Amino acid sequence: MENQVYSMPRIGDKAPSFKAKTTQGEINFPGDFGGKWKILFSHPADFTPVCTSEFMTFATMEEEFKALNTQLVGLSVDGLYSHIAWLRAIKEKIEYKGMKNVEVKFPLIEDITMEVAKMYGMIQPGESATQAVRAVFFIDPNDVIRAIVYYPLSLGRNFDELKRVIIALQTADNFGVALPADWRPGDNVIVPPAGSCGVAKSRMDGDEEGVVCHDWYFCTKPLSKETVESKLGK
Ligand code: BEZ
Repeated sequence: MENQVYSMPRIGDKAPSFKAKTTQGEINFPGDFGGKWKILFSHPADFTPVCTSEFMTFATMEEEFKALNTQLVGLSVDGLYSHIAWLRAIKEKIEYKGMKNVEVKFPLIEDITMEVAKMYGMIQPGESATQAVRAVFFIDPNDVIRAIVYYPLSLGRNFDELKRVIIALQTADNFGVALPADWRPGDNVIVPPAGSCGVAKSRMDGDEEGVVCHDWYFCTKPLSKETVESKLGK
């Protein structure tokens, strides 16, 4: 095991499977969460300040992710008793940015052997050989990895952005569109270029309702927030 070289999973790959102990009992990942979107994320260490701020934020948003049919699963290379003690300390002691009595209900994986962390490319020795970086894997209901984000040890993640990624991926799938820079529900979306996805005709004609072309390869159309929201989590 010592010198085993792990290849990192990439966007479009099936999420590697594993069995692990967590604060919510043993899990088979991703199999136990079939039919759901999954966010598998790592943090460097329990009882550290940036990670504590992240867990409080993520746990406070858990219901919002549930509404998006999304299961959160955390991981660090700490043991189960450390995880349990840290989550209890968060609930009983920490008040931060208006959050208090925060209960982390999603599973937090113990990975003292680093087996899962290595399998998912969460150990990046240039940053730390003994702790996981802040990795986030977005995995769809077919267990395919759809997006990956990595942050260094010193920088906490933006959880609104993680939620925006899930919403954007679900919108892209449901409506067959792409999403432009900084897109949020209610903003215009990008329609597939003419000639792709069965669209044979040039869109510069402007013959499709609401479509505006900025050039032959760059066309947008409105998609209302209500329409997007009616499909989220489905
Ligand atoms: C933190 O979460 O505060 C942290 C963890 C590991 C290294 C640096 C900061």
